[in-house]
Amino acid sequence: MSYNLLKGKRGIITGALDENSIAWKVAEKAHEEGATFVLTNAPIAMRMGEIKKLAEKTNSEIIPADATIVEELTNLFIKSQEVLGGKIDFVLHSIGMSVNIRKNIPYTELNYDYFIKGIDVSAFSLHKMLSVAKKLDAISEWGSVVALTYMAAQRTYPFYTDMADIKAMLESITRSFGYHYGLDKKVRINTVSQSPTKTTAGSGIKGFGDFYDYADKIAPLGNASAEACADYCITLFSDLTKMVTMQNLYHDGGYSTTGISSIVMEQLGKS
Ligand SMILES: NC(=O)c1ccc[n+]([C@@H]2O[C@H](COP(=O)([O-])OP(=O)(O)OC[C@H]3O[C@@H](n4cnc5c(N)ncnc54)[C@H](O)[C@@H]3O)[C@@H](O)[C@H]2O)c1
Repeated sequence: MSYNLLKGKRGIITGALDENSIAWKVAEKAHEEGATFVLTNAPIAMRMGEIKKLAEKTNSEIIPADATIVEELTNLFIKSQEVLGGKIDFVLHSIGMSVNIRKNIPYTELNYDYFIKGIDVSAFSLHKMLSVAKKLDAISEWGSVVALTYMAAQRTYPFYTDMADIKAMLESITRSFGYHYGLDKKVRINTVSQSPTKTTAGSGIKGFGDFYDYADKIAPLGNASAEACADYCITLFSDLTKMVTMQNLYHDGGYSTTGISSIVMEQLGKS
């Protein structure tokens, strides 16, 4: 069902790799809610065949940009305004990658070159996007930026290795930049802390399947799906959440505030 929540709004959506991507679902919902937007991803990571399908379905243009390269982000914001015909009202940062996780390197033995790469791709990229947008004055007043994060920024999840530290930085950038951009231009910036979700980035984490099931049994509402996450992002892009900024917002079916569930206790009792 559509509520026209984003009617007339212009956006930039990063990170739609394939139909499992959270960004893919956000693009579908934003289209349903009346938005026009540009899709973007790193040229090297982009699966052209896949993203073209989404572009056709949502009548969007694709503007490739590596989110670690300021020049490419500058081009992205300039071109997006040309294509969409005005300033940008919402931005989704849905970018995450850790070489240490990909290579199964344990947290206590991190490769620091990989660590820096992970920080650049997954946290600095938000700062770079915001800095470029602010310099170009590319985001409209009361515009909304949402970045996706995970609760390992607050609590320890051994398998999440360096991404835990990187997400903590992403959330900190959200607060710090949120202050300055809010004060100067009334632009709001929030992170959504999402349940484990079966995507390329999620499933690349060792033990993800077991953890997914565990989280599902702890959360009273179960794990939040990518579609539900997209719905939440849409509300944050809409005018109905105008005074929400600099927040880390849990979207996890109640997982983050549940100590233990009766389902897990029953299962432990059997062993
Ligand atoms: N899947 C989960 O369990 C989960 C849970 C909480 C938060 N998140 C976060 O959600 C976001 C989206 O991940 P997803 O789960 O949809 O997986 P995904 O693999 O579909 O998306 C990750 C995206 O990052 C893009 N990317 C990587 N390097 C880039 C670069 N240099 N420039 C531009 N884009 C680049 C990839 O191409 C991909 O599209 C990430 O920030 C992730 O950490 C995921």
